[in-house]
Amino acid sequence: METFNIYNPVKIHFGAGVIGEAGKIAKKYSDNALIVTGRNSMQKSGTLDRLVKILKNAGVNSIIFDGITPNPTTSEIDSAAGVAREKKVGLVIGLGGGSPLDSAKAVAVAAKGDIPVWNYLKTPAKEALPVITIVSTSGTGSEVNRYSVMTNPETGEKPGFGYECMYPKDAIIDPEIMLSMPAYVTATTGFDVFVHIFESFTGKARNAFSSAYCMQTFYLLKDNLIRAYKEPDNVESRSNMALASALAGLAIDISGVGIMHAMEHPVSGNYPDIAHGAGLAVLAVESMKYNLNACKRDYTLMAHHLGIKRAGKSDDEYAMSLIEKTEEMLTALNLNIRLKDLGVKKDKLPKISGEAFTTMGFAIQNNPETIGEKEVLKILENSY
Ligand SMILES: [Fe+2]
Repeated sequence: METFNIYNPVKIHFGAGVIGEAGKIAKKYSDNALIVTGRNSMQKSGTLDRLVKILKNAGVNSIIFDGITPNPTTSEIDSAAGVAREKKVGLVIGLGGGSPLDSAKAVAVAAKGDIPVWNYLKTPAKEALPVITIVSTSGTGSEVNRYSVMTNPETGEKPGFGYECMYPKDAIIDPEIMLSMPAYVTATTGFDVFVHIFESFTGKARNAFSSAYCMQTFYLLKDNLIRAYKEPDNVESRSNMALASALAGLAIDISGVGIMHAMEHPVSGNYPDIAHGAGLAVLAVESMKYNLNACKRDYTLMAHHLGIKRAGKSDDEYAMSLIEKTEEMLTALNLNIRLKDLGVKKDKLPKISGEAFTTMGFAIQNNPETIGEKEVLKILENSY
C-alpha cells in the first residue's frame, strides 16, 4: 500500500480574462506590490501596462522590477529583493514565463531575510512575502508549485529549490495572455510539459495523485501540443496547453523530476542562452532509452495515453513506440537537435555531468533506473 502526504495550497484562477481579477486578488495581501518580470515580452504585448492599470484600479501600487533574464541569476534575484525591502512591498507578483515566476518566489524569500538568496539552498526558508503568479507561457508549471531555479553566474551552477513558504498564494492562468507566445517558446515550453509528466509518471516518488495529473495531461498533449505550435491563434489549444502546464506543475510538485532535468539544469546553467525546453529536447531520447528496462510497463501506459495504436505490437515494441513518438513530436516541433547544435562544447560535458549530481541530486535519486556519473556522461555524449 502507498504511503504519502500531499499539500498544495495554491488557489488557481483559470480562464480567458481572469487577469482582470488580479487587482481584487492582490488587494487581499497588500496595497504595495513588486511586479517581477522579464525585459521584453510582457512590455511588448502590453500585458505589463494592463496589469499595472488593473492593480491601480483596485488601489494597489506597483513597483516594477523588469531585470529578469532567461535562466535568472542570483544577482538579479538579490537586486529585486533589495528593491522589495527598500520599497517595503507586502506582495510579490511574478509576471511572465518560468524565469520571472521562479524568481518571484526566490525574491519573496530573500526579501524577508538579510542573507544572499544562494544561502537558502542550505538554510531552509521559513517565511516569505506572499506571491501571486501570472503565467504567460504554457510549460513551466511554476505557476502552481513551490519550486524555483536560479543560476550562480560565477560557477554556472543551476540548482532548483523549494520550501513550503514558497507556494504562490494565487495563480492566475489566463490563456488569452499566451496567444502572443512566439512559436519557439510554444515548442520548448510545451516539450517541458511532456518531460514533467514523463519524469513524474516514472519517478520513484510518484503516487496515485501525481499519476492522475499525468494521465490527464497526456490526453491534453496528444491533441494540443503540436496544434498550439502550428496554429498559434487557436484559443482552444492554447487553453488546453495552459491546463496541461498547470496539471504537470502539480504532478512534479508531488513527485519531482528525473535525469532529464538533472542534466538539463547544468546545460543551461553553463550556457544561459539555451532555453530549458531546448536542453530537455536534446536529452530526452537517450534518457528514455536508458530508463526503458526499469519502466517498460509505464512506457506502454504512456503510449496508450498518448493515443499510439498498439496493433499487434509486443510489450517491448509498444514500449519502444513511446520513444519513436517522442522523436516524431520533436521533429514536428523543430526540436530534433543535438547538444552541439545548441553550442555546447564537448569538453564541458564532464563538468555538466558532475553538476547533475551536486546541484540536482534529488532528481538523480528520483530516477527510476539507478544512475552514476559515468552513465550520465554517456547519455550526454550520445546526445552530442
Ligand atoms: Fe522543466
